[in-house]
Amino acid sequence: RDELSLQYHGLFLPKETHSQDSLKFAEDFKFEDSDVIAVTFPKSGTVWMQEILPLILNEGDLTPVQTIPNWDRVPWLEETRLALVMDQLKSPRALVTHFLYDLMPASFHQSKAKIIYVMRNPKDVIVSFYYFHQMAAFLEDPGTFDEFLDKFLDGKLAFGKWTDHVKSWRKPELGDRILYITYEEMKEDLPTALRKISRFLGKNLREEVIQKIAENCSFTVMKNNPMSNFSLVPKVYMDSDKSPFLRKGVAGDWKNHFTSEQLSHLNSVITKELDGFTLPWSLN
Ligand code: A3P
Repeated sequence: RDELSLQYHGLFLPKETHSQDSLKFAEDFKFEDSDVIAVTFPKSGTVWMQEILPLILNEGDLTPVQTIPNWDRVPWLEETRLALVMDQLKSPRALVTHFLYDLMPASFHQSKAKIIYVMRNPKDVIVSFYYFHQMAAFLEDPGTFDEFLDKFLDGKLAFGKWTDHVKSWRKPELGDRILYITYEEMKEDLPTALRKISRFLGKNLREEVIQKIAENCSFTVMKNNPMSNFSLVPKVYMDSDKSPFLRKGVAGDWKNHFTSEQLSHLNSVITKELDGFTLPWSLN
């Protein structure tokens, strides 16, 4: 892990995509009031938001999602690509981040930039992260699922503890700057989720536009879009033969991976750490 990661405020971040310069760039980043940033713990629907946001902001125009790779279209605040594409971002700019609230730059707090926090059931996050660690050469080998679960619960993977992340973003002072949404509700009824996001962004889209966006943000269409499925990344970095980035795209795959002991261990650790913070789903 030490070879593959750098440390930042106690978190381990992959060196392949982060550097001291990129983190400094994020610290100095000047948010504008018109910006929108989707915040996720890894594997919670980041790439989905990189598809959804430009489509909503451009009222269904497919050009950005068909011509620009997702990581340049809606860049990560903390990653090295941002400095390279910064000047090409058109207002209103859309970004993503895995940062915890306390890592956000000063200008973010001074701005009225909007935030969409996407939360996914941690059990599916773990499964998705486990396969991602198998396919991404810049992440440590996950070991067995049991070993990986321990690392996840101990906060030893990139971006630390899931519980710290979700709790850090539940900030009443953000008021109507933030929209909370779950991966599961997007999966359950994408058009309704898209209407919710559009309204939040002040976009009143016609129903046919919502339907067009929903179609283009479906798992199958995204999986076949080279600008969104990471097939442009050389295999030495991401090997889709080991596991594709757009892997299964379902809610509940955890049922195929957890033993009942692992489940009760996860439940007790997470419930204790949440300390009364309520989740949109039952963990059982
Ligand atoms: P799985 O590994 O469970 O399939 P992130 O983008 O935050 O890294 O999250 C990746 C997860 O989101 C993967 O989960 C991926 O398949 C899923 N995902 C991406 N786009 C999706 C879509 N359009 N519909 C459903 N799931 C999607």
